[in-house]
Amino acid sequence: MFEVLSNEVLAENLHKMVVSAPRIAKARKAGQFVIVRLAQGEERIPLTIGDADAAAGTITLFIQAIGASTRRIVQTQPGGFIRDVAGPLGKETHITNWGRVACIGGGVGTAVLFPLVKALHEAGNQITTIIGGRSERYIILENELSPLSEEFLVTTEDGSRGFKGFVTGPLSELLADPEKAPKAVFAVGPVPMMKAVANLTREKGIETIVSLNPIMIDGTGMCGGCRVQIGNETKFACVDGPEFDAHLVDFDGLSDRLTSYRKEEATCLAAECK
Ligand code: NAD
Ligand code: FES
Repeated sequence: MFEVLSNEVLAENLHKMVVSAPRIAKARKAGQFVIVRLAQGEERIPLTIGDADAAAGTITLFIQAIGASTRRIVQTQPGGFIRDVAGPLGKETHITNWGRVACIGGGVGTAVLFPLVKALHEAGNQITTIIGGRSERYIILENELSPLSEEFLVTTEDGSRGFKGFVTGPLSELLADPEKAPKAVFAVGPVPMMKAVANLTREKGIETIVSLNPIMIDGTGMCGGCRVQIGNETKFACVDGPEFDAHLVDFDGLSDRLTSYRKEEATCLAAECK
C-alpha cells in the first residue's frame, strides 16, 4: 500500500499528489512512469513520475481527472492509500547537453514535460520553455518551470495570458531566429499539438522528441495495447518509449487508437456521475 501524503488542485480537474514510494523514488529517471491501481479490480492508470525525492522516499504524480477511474484516484485524501504503484516503467529520457533546446508543453502535457526540463537544465542546456493552455486557468507549473528556463513563454487560446493562440506560434518565431534556434525540441501535449510541432521542426531538420500516451494495460510489453507505429516499425510505448523521434511517429494512427473506447468511457463516466 502506498500512502498519499498530499493532494493539491492545480487547475480544473488536475491534481498534484505526493505519494510515499521509497524504492521507486530512488530508482526513477526522468521520462519514466508508473502504473497506478487504486484498489483491487480498479483500472490500471499509467502516470508519468512528475518528480521524486529519493531522501524523503516520495514521488509526485500529476493526475488529470477526466475518467471514472482517475476521478476516484484524486478523491484519495492525505493519509489515504493507493493499493498498487508499479514502476518505474519505460525508458528514461536521453539527456545530453545540446546547448540550446526548446521544451513545449500543451495543457496537461506540461506536467509530463516538467521532469524533462529539470533534467535538461541539470545537464547545462539553455532552455526556451513554451507552455500553452485554453485559457489562463489551464496554465500550470509556471513557478516550477520558469526558474529552469532561460526564456519562458506562455500562450493561451483566448488571449487571457501571454501570446494569443497555440504554442506553435512562438515556436515558429523561435525556429526562424538564427541566434535562438534550438538544436533539439521536446514536446508533450495533445496529439494534434505534437504533430504540429513535428511538422514545423521537420522542415528545419531539428531533432524532436515527443512523449506519447497511448492506451496502456499491463505496462510491461505483453498486451500490445500501447502499440504505436514509428517509421516502419511497430513499437510498444511502455517498454520502447514513451519517448520517440517525433518525425517518425504515426500521429493519425495514435489518434485513432486513443479514441477507440470513447463510447465506453462516456458510459462509464455517466454511470459514475449518477
Ligand atoms: P488542450 O486541448 O487544452 O491543448 C493545450 C494546448 O496545446 C493548446 O492551448 C495549444 O497551445 C496546444 N495545441 C492543441 N492543439 C494544437 C494544434 N492543433 N496545433 C498546435 N498546438 C495545439 O489540452 P489538454 O486538454 O490540457 O490536454 C488533453 C490532451 O493531452 C489529451 O488528449 C491527453 O491525452 C493529452 N496528454 C498527453 C500527454 C502526453 O504524454 N503526450 C500527457 C497528458 C495529456
Ligand atoms: Fe501492454 Fe504496453 S501496455 S504492451
